[in-house]
Amino acid sequence: MWKFENLLASIDDGVFTISINREEKLNALNVATVDELRRAIQNVYDSPTIKAAIITGAGSKSFVAGADITEIAQLNELNGRKFSENGQEVFQLIESCPKPVIAAINGYALGGGCELAMACHLRVATSSAKFGQPEVNLGILPGYGGTQRLSHLIGKSRALELLMTGDIITAQKALEFGLVNYLTESPDDLMAKCKEILGKILSKAPLAVGMVVNCVNAAYDPEQRGYQTEANSFANCCKSNDFKEGTSAFLEKRTPNFQGE
Ligand code: COA
Repeated sequence: MWKFENLLASIDDGVFTISINREEKLNALNVATVDELRRAIQNVYDSPTIKAAIITGAGSKSFVAGADITEIAQLNELNGRKFSENGQEVFQLIESCPKPVIAAINGYALGGGCELAMACHLRVATSSAKFGQPEVNLGILPGYGGTQRLSHLIGKSRALELLMTGDIITAQKALEFGLVNYLTESPDDLMAKCKEILGKILSKAPLAVGMVVNCVNAAYDPEQRGYQTEANSFANCCKSNDFKEGTSAFLEKRTPNFQGE
């Protein structure tokens, strides 16, 4: 089984739930937690029993209130770069995961918390959640991919405003900006909504779903030719058993039984 100091992990019906568990620090991400997050996500890639993941924060107040400022305060130019690159790598692992990963945002999603949420494929938040990239208050900027993903998700103009002012926005504003997919009233509704979305995705052809993630990410990667990635992925789907199953099921007027191969 999994053994973590700063995460809670459980699996239910193929859905692996990872909770950042430093409630007394509003789930701030110290480096040890980021390393555990790397292991937890690697587990999602590797384990055949895990079909999807939800990332959330322990308690009712905070998803993640940022990177741990006590650690940030010790950084210099050299280890600052490493700190940023390490976090970027872990968050890219989340973003590139071929199985669906949803952020269940149950409170503050600030700094590294907003960045973590943005690295997930979809975001569902309680209506009392708060979002922001307040790093400029500390004399830094987001280092875990936030400048890039925020621009991708909400557009350059809104991203620049949030990043330059450090403003904190409400969940309603985040919904309006397209930063979150759905809002729910209570924490119970939050997990139920995430599971409802995952249930829908998990009824589809897993290989095709994984390739969708890869193709959409390619659209934001200047080193990739997105249309070529799409055509390659399409061809790969065409040689899969799930493609035969999906098309046969449609023509035979039955529900497909996908095997992910
Ligand atoms: N890093 C380290 N510790 C943090 C933290 C962070 N990012 N965010 C909160 N904490 C700690 C606080 O220091 C406090 O610890 P203490 O009880 O040992 O003093 C504890 O979590 C509770 O936080 P507190 O500030 O007392 O709660 P609050 O309800 O008054 O305020 C916030 C909540 C989120 C507005 C406030 O904690 C905050 O601004 N946090 C930093 C947000 C930030 O700048 N994130 C980006 C970092 S790069």
